[in-house]
Amino acid sequence: MSLFENTPDFALRMDEKDPLRSFREEFLFPQHSGRPVIYFTGNSLGLQPKGAAAALKQELDDWATYGVEGHFHAKHPWYSYHEELTGCTARLVGALEEEVVVMNQLTSNLHFLLVSFYRPEGRRRKILTEQRPFPSDTYAFASQIAFHGGDPDSDLIEMQPRQGEHTLRLEDIQDRIHALGDELALVCFGGVNFYTGQAFDMAAITKAAHAAGASAGFDLAHAAGNLCLSLHDWDVDFACWCTYKYLNSGPGSVAGAFVHQRHLGKDLPRFAGWWGHDKNERFKMERTFKPMPTAEAWQVSNAPVFSMAVHRVALEQFDRAGMANLRAKSVQLTNYLQFIIEGVAKEAEARLEIITPGNADERGCQLSILAHGHGKALFNKLTEAGVIADWREPNVIRVAPVPMYNSFEDVRRFGQILKAALS
Ligand SMILES: Cc1ncc(COP(=O)(O)O)c(C=O)c1O
Repeated sequence: MSLFENTPDFALRMDEKDPLRSFREEFLFPQHSGRPVIYFTGNSLGLQPKGAAAALKQELDDWATYGVEGHFHAKHPWYSYHEELTGCTARLVGALEEEVVVMNQLTSNLHFLLVSFYRPEGRRRKILTEQRPFPSDTYAFASQIAFHGGDPDSDLIEMQPRQGEHTLRLEDIQDRIHALGDELALVCFGGVNFYTGQAFDMAAITKAAHAAGASAGFDLAHAAGNLCLSLHDWDVDFACWCTYKYLNSGPGSVAGAFVHQRHLGKDLPRFAGWWGHDKNERFKMERTFKPMPTAEAWQVSNAPVFSMAVHRVALEQFDRAGMANLRAKSVQLTNYLQFIIEGVAKEAEARLEIITPGNADERGCQLSILAHGHGKALFNKLTEAGVIADWREPNVIRVAPVPMYNSFEDVRRFGQILKAALS
């Protein structure tokens, strides 16, 4: 028997018991017919923290007050702004402080890291990734392969699931890595696949990649702020993530990068810039690049302070809430959503197939629904009724209740709207 009930009382009781419930008040919700929308797209763009405006205003005021002197005299000095984000970031992704840096944007960071960690040599040239990676990653991999004189058609491998299955099995990934052996240069997966919502076992994939003599990297766009991560202990070589999804830092905001401690201070190939130069000597303006002994060595440009200001507010919320607490709520919230969707589909005799794994260990908060025979029309009806979810070609509706600001009542109300849309 399920522990869940599709009733207002049950959802209310769950919300009352939720130790994180007050965080919802710290966000601005778009409105629909005079009430907050059901916002299930934190996996695309997280909501605005109410503290973002004041943080931005602080930087604008300091710019007005100090001009260039703000680099040293602003409340949060711009010269070292990124350093204020290091501690929270390290805690968020399970890293040592020296292993993380906030800089650039996601695909740019992926490219900069590939320069150091995709180094095809002899037979060892291939990159293995998951089925249907985010297209930007495919473009990055293919262009890096071509940059090294390789052929993306043969050197970029997208693993496909077994016939009739939607997601990949870990043992198949491990077998494939083993079989590729000395042809494999890099395994680079999403931590959570954007389409299916499948979360990968990053520790096991990294172990298999290393056993084959390859490096292991992850695009954590859908994992950072969604899953508990232990990048250092998992021995991951590198990772990168954006901050506008689960990390609520605003459209196009600054991104993050991780490089494992064992690669720091080494003479790796790198596309360098002045912000990666030893900061004690940066303004000596010398010709020879002397990299920082930390992940900051991968920085190229000075800090984009406005987006970092919002990111600082958002990271501070994660520190207060605690990733383990968020994840505990997330598992319950998404299990509840699954229960509601399955119940409503049964009642309405609709074929809604959840292609995201059913096991909480293999998913984050997102569920991807194949709406057989309903498709985009169903999605449009949900939108008209005040649900913000998203549609991904060719035919998936993605719904992601995020633990930071969604409630059990959001999930229950979603079920009511879904039922009406199906009838
Ligand atoms: C998994 C994944 N990788 C890469 C990107 C591209 O990110 P950006 O435009 O920040 O480079 C996205 C954007 O949604 C994504 O979901």
